[in-house]
Amino acid sequence: MLGLYTARTVAMTAMPQLVSLFNAVGGGAAALVAIEEYLSRSSGDIPLDTTVFVVLDIVIGAITFTGSLVASGKLMGLSFTPSRPVQVPGGRLVTIGLAAIVVLGSVYLFVGNESPAVMLLILAAALVFGVTMTLPIGGADMPVVISLLNSFTGTAVAMAGFVLNNVVLIIAGALVGASGAILTKLMADAMNRSVMNIMIGGFGGGDAAAGATAGAGGSVRELGVDDAAIQLAYAQNVIVVPGYGLAVAQAQHAVRELAELLEDRGVDVKYAIHPVAGRMPGHMNVLLAEANIPYPQLREMEDINPDFERADVALVIGANDVTNPAARRPGSPVSGMPILDVDRARNIIVIKRSMGRGYAGIDNELYTNEKTGMLFADAREGLANLVAAVKAL
Ligand code: TAP
Repeated sequence: MLGLYTARTVAMTAMPQLVSLFNAVGGGAAALVAIEEYLSRSSGDIPLDTTVFVVLDIVIGAITFTGSLVASGKLMGLSFTPSRPVQVPGGRLVTIGLAAIVVLGSVYLFVGNESPAVMLLILAAALVFGVTMTLPIGGADMPVVISLLNSFTGTAVAMAGFVLNNVVLIIAGALVGASGAILTKLMADAMNRSVMNIMIGGFGGGDAAAGATAGAGGSVRELGVDDAAIQLAYAQNVIVVPGYGLAVAQAQHAVRELAELLEDRGVDVKYAIHPVAGRMPGHMNVLLAEANIPYPQLREMEDINPDFERADVALVIGANDVTNPAARRPGSPVSGMPILDVDRARNIIVIKRSMGRGYAGIDNELYTNEKTGMLFADAREGLANLVAAVKAL
């Protein structure tokens, strides 16, 4: 009941941290099943295949449990799990040491020894490993990590199925494990990173951003609602770029209203959908579909990018990282992440509340581009004002 209630009431923008908490519960439960099974068997009664599945279940389940808790805490912005990368003292040595304990302990059990103490040592090492693995990860890479941990949860549940000889658990776990692995790969590809590079390569976060924000110190041109309305109303084509801010402000209906007004005036309106815009896969598609925005107007990044240079106006609403030209250069937490080529549009209007940073915690040099006018407002309020101003023209 609690799970149902939480899933129904959570804001869509907080969904990744909830998924991460559910991953923790799944991984932890699977590990507990294996521990209980191992400790309840009398000595001499544990076949080797059971030991193998128990060890795998405990290791994967325990890593998922603590890793997912840390990931969830990072997304919630808790003070002891900051979203920036946190280097663990001793760093890689500690992680290698923990991995060695897990491997050596497992080998000890696999060669026929039975030892609850060694099993608990493996459990403790895997629990700490989950923390040391996730803490150094920050900013823009977190969605991939959560998806990977989701895959781990499924795998741990499948292992629990083998331990209990329960076919339903094996099938359900395998489905979650495989689909989570595919999603992880797709998301890593969307950010132009390999999963291995994300896991060991030092993760994206604000600190490394210094070299990446060249140009972000330039001057900002503020735009009034009336000027923005004129630009939009007299354009031939407008590309709307929705981001996380549009989702938090629940401005999807307001943007549809503005788009319909513009279309009535003969403006061609399209929406540019970045694969990781927002906070979960498909976030923007779901949000805009909810407001009955015609699906053919939603265009994927590769498809729409060539159109930006012919767009009279790119209207960016609460999107930040996915439009940051710094991604095209090395040295930034978003380097290599494919972006929407908003800076190539003839005119750019950005609706957001301030010069505040996005998820990756870095400045966006799009905002200091000479073609950009900043309309500082909450997305819903700003769009409502634009609707009124366009109607008044
Ligand atoms: P972000 O880069 O996070 O930027 C969102 C911007 O919205 C902020 O700069 C904020 O600026 C603005 N904003 C917040 N509330 C607003 C409101 N009420 N009205 C208007 N603007 C508001 O978003 P993005 O461009 O969509 O990029 C997504 C980021 O999230 C990427 O880094 C991505 O890797 C990460 N991420 C993605 C996923 C998936 S799978 N989609 C999952 C987790 C994380 P102000 O504070 O100035 O208003």
